[in-house]
Amino acid sequence: MKTENAFRATRPDRMADTFAADIVAGLTAKPKHLPPKYFYDLAGSALFERITQLPEYYPTRCEIGILQDNAPAIAAAFPPGCALIEFGSGSSRKARIVLGAAATVEAYVPVDISGDFLQQDLTLLRRDFPRLKVHPLVEDFTRPFAIPASLAALPRVGFFPGSTIGNFEPDEAASFLRHIGDVLGIGSLLVVGIDLIKDENILYRAYNDAEGVTAKFNLNLLARINRELGANFNLCSFEHHAFFNSEKKRIEMHLASGKRQSVRVDRATVEFRAGETIHTENSYKYSVESFQALALGSGWSPIEVFTDGMFSVHALRLTGRR
Ligand code: SAH
Ligand code: AVI
Repeated sequence: MKTENAFRATRPDRMADTFAADIVAGLTAKPKHLPPKYFYDLAGSALFERITQLPEYYPTRCEIGILQDNAPAIAAAFPPGCALIEFGSGSSRKARIVLGAAATVEAYVPVDISGDFLQQDLTLLRRDFPRLKVHPLVEDFTRPFAIPASLAALPRVGFFPGSTIGNFEPDEAASFLRHIGDVLGIGSLLVVGIDLIKDENILYRAYNDAEGVTAKFNLNLLARINRELGANFNLCSFEHHAFFNSEKKRIEMHLASGKRQSVRVDRATVEFRAGETIHTENSYKYSVESFQALALGSGWSPIEVFTDGMFSVHALRLTGRR
């Protein structure tokens, strides 16, 4: 049910053109790869929510526990009357924890590419925080976007939970942190969650759950391409593969073709060898120190880190331009 109006600055037809061009470019590249941001249509976001509830997928539970234990300390660093800007807000479940401890936050700006899901999930938040100004933005957060004029004068705090920053290549993560710096401004605070390097078996199970929800999430990308581009992927002939690449410290997700086949996508014909994969996602894992070094390299100084040994939440301050 759509009850809220999210501000959509990028025209939907332009988003659709970019989607088609990115998909064809990725499927005709060698090796084949697709941007993970395209997992998140309405079905993909709902599948991600199911992943967060799986017994094997520890990151969400761990980060929620860390935020619940430390929300007052985190909120104490917020400037009064600030706007909390969340990058990739999904269900906004983690923002609720922070907002519950930060009574002086004046506005909440969830930014997410998954427009229909974003609009669905804010009704309850508005009910529970009636004085909060809630301004959802349907945007690709890697591109420049405008903060609504009515909030432009408020001090800004960034919130980037979920280890979504781990879905970037490390050099892209560093540029993205610089981009966030441009959005938030010098002296501002950023709270960012990142998953930690750990036992390979725990990592493996988190991306190969027994119920097969992560496989469905991965395969939904092909289903989405069928739905939106009229492609003819046969989902039964592709298989979910996920493994830890210990050299690169990342989980890799792929979709492997079970046979030689050709698939029509938009105006292109894409040929697959038996066993050939589409690389759909990387999920980089960091140590506390390696993440702090990445942040420092982008001008963000570590203020505090909260961790349970499995996951980490960093409070960073923008102290310089790099
Ligand atoms: N922050 C939530 C959701 C994490 S899942 C949590 O911690 O549980 C990643 C979220 O980022 C999804 O909601 C997805 O739609 C969004 N996302 C991924 N890439 C994006 C992009 N380029 N621009 C905007 N949102 C993006
Ligand atoms: C959003 N992102 C950090 C998740 C992750 O763990 O990399 C997406 C995900 N992919 C498979 N399971 C969850």
